[in-house]
Amino acid sequence: MLDSPFVSPTRKQGKLIGIDFLPCLRSGLTWRDPMADNDQQLEAACQKIGIGAIKRHVFLCPGPNCCTPEAGEASWKLLKQKLKEAGLSAGDNVCQRTRAGCLRICCHGPTMVVYPDGTWYRDMTPDRIERFIREHLLEGRPIEEWIFARNPLPNEHECRAG
Ligand code: FES
Repeated sequence: MLDSPFVSPTRKQGKLIGIDFLPCLRSGLTWRDPMADNDQQLEAACQKIGIGAIKRHVFLCPGPNCCTPEAGEASWKLLKQKLKEAGLSAGDNVCQRTRAGCLRICCHGPTMVVYPDGTWYRDMTPDRIERFIREHLLEGRPIEEWIFARNPLPNEHECRAG
């Protein structure tokens, strides 16, 4: 079991911030810390999507400029379904997925990019989704013939070095 990656924004400096509880005390009402509820919600959301165990993040643009909305929607639905079936939605090897509004390529879509490796895929129609998950995500072999660009993200040290 992983340690929780959740960082409480209200308590990380050992104090509550941004809460005006004096009116409640003055009026005799029982004061409840609303930020504590927010923290619980956030922590539950982190656990639900596997933050702390995420190994990759896939962004898919379902159009409408890079592909037809129908093709984009079908790819998105299949991506979600196949990630789950492949066991990549939970556990120690989570692949997070996000439906992007537009990845600013706007042609030859559906467009997809995978981080942290920064692998950009073109024409990710539904017939390609299963092979992509098997070869790239499960076996670690990106599919060269569908890739049109690469931009791995720098690590923290490289970012600071500028
Ligand atoms: S509409 Fe898909 S990349 Fe812009």
